[in-house]
Amino acid sequence: MPELSVVIVAPDSEQRAVLQVLVDGTSVARTVHTCANFPVATADPVVRRVQSANADVVLVDIPSDNSVLALRAIELLHQEMPECALFAIGNMEQPQVIVSAMRAGAREFIERPTTTTDLLEAFVRLTTAQRKTRREGSRGKVFTVVNAKGGSGATTVAVNLALALQAAHGNVALIDLAPLGHAALHLNLKPLFTVADAIRNLHRLDSSLLESFMTRQTGGLQLLAGTNIPATAEPSTAEFARLFDMLVNHYHYIVVDTSSRLDGATRLVCNLSETVLLVGHTDVASLWSAARVLQYLGETGGRERVRLVLNRFRKVPGFTEADAEAAAGTKLLWKIPNQYFAVSSAIDRGIPLMSQNHTEIARSFTALATILTQHDEEAKRTAWSLFKTV
Ligand SMILES: Nc1ncnc2c1ncn2[C@@H]1O[C@H](COP(=O)(O)OP(=O)(O)OP(=O)(O)O)[C@@H](O)[C@H]1O
Ligand SMILES: [Mg+2]
Repeated sequence: MPELSVVIVAPDSEQRAVLQVLVDGTSVARTVHTCANFPVATADPVVRRVQSANADVVLVDIPSDNSVLALRAIELLHQEMPECALFAIGNMEQPQVIVSAMRAGAREFIERPTTTTDLLEAFVRLTTAQRKTRREGSRGKVFTVVNAKGGSGATTVAVNLALALQAAHGNVALIDLAPLGHAALHLNLKPLFTVADAIRNLHRLDSSLLESFMTRQTGGLQLLAGTNIPATAEPSTAEFARLFDMLVNHYHYIVVDTSSRLDGATRLVCNLSETVLLVGHTDVASLWSAARVLQYLGETGGRERVRLVLNRFRKVPGFTEADAEAAAGTKLLWKIPNQYFAVSSAIDRGIPLMSQNHTEIARSFTALATILTQHDEEAKRTAWSLFKTV
């Protein structure tokens, strides 16, 4: 829990000192300023002093014999510093004062005499609520790329989609969960750490440790590299759930390459995904496999998130896109052109297609990234237009 900075406003010097000891005693908060006077107007220097202390919380002590000035102070501070949490301290036997304090903008009403536990509980409630709104407002979206059949192009799609998202939005992570991680090869990166290191350190994983396990590509894309030893001990799905909880709090978009891995981890990550891209070819074996994979993923729910991506697309006379959708059992999201020379030399040279501008296939990945994020863009535009009409 981050340390909260607290300002104490209490006219009684003894009460001020007691509150300071109690706040500092919680060890999750620190008193940064104390005031003996209640502010009475917006221009009051007390308001400025409290503002410049840049506090997370202001404790306002409401004297039992004269609540009027304290309640006015709460109202004023709430108006001038709406993002700061106001905690009123007062007498529980004065229900009218409690109601007025809450109406004036107090977030908590804490009984006097106050204990460290009362304050600690109120601080924890505040940080939990803040963390929740932060998360809801900014949780990253996961796109998982799964193969219908080995070698269909999942890694090519995941790597280039991640690069396209990075170029358009920034703050993108590529997570390589394939049975053997090839993403680093595609990106010509030499990772020092892999997913296994992140999982092994879950108990102490915070944002900075997570970043230290990532390998950074020149365009800013961050790769959590895959394993280079097939069939190592698999982490439990609960461990993956914790890892992804961290990832969505840290990155704007997370692209996962599971390639041909079909196990509990793939199912879990697919369930956490906004969209699952099931990569197949336009042939009977590939579409048959796509239907089987879809069924496997659907057993734990989330079938509706799966979309078909036809890689190395070619038109087959007498076989329509609707036929492909019917065979695979899911809607077609995208078709990627068949360009063997461009794709294979990009992999061999470690220069991804997205880094070689203006190819038809690079444009295809850019457009795929746009389609996958179009609702986010619309949401941003709506928020902006609402904001403008206020
Ligand atoms: N759009 C494309 N056009 C032509 N060739 C492609 C295309 N996409 C992928 N390939 C070829 O297919 C091969 C496999 O690609 P990739 O490694 O991305 O597949 P994968 O599904 O991740 O494989 P694996 O099952 O081994 O994980 C590559 O060598 C590449 O040359
Ligand atoms: Mg692969």
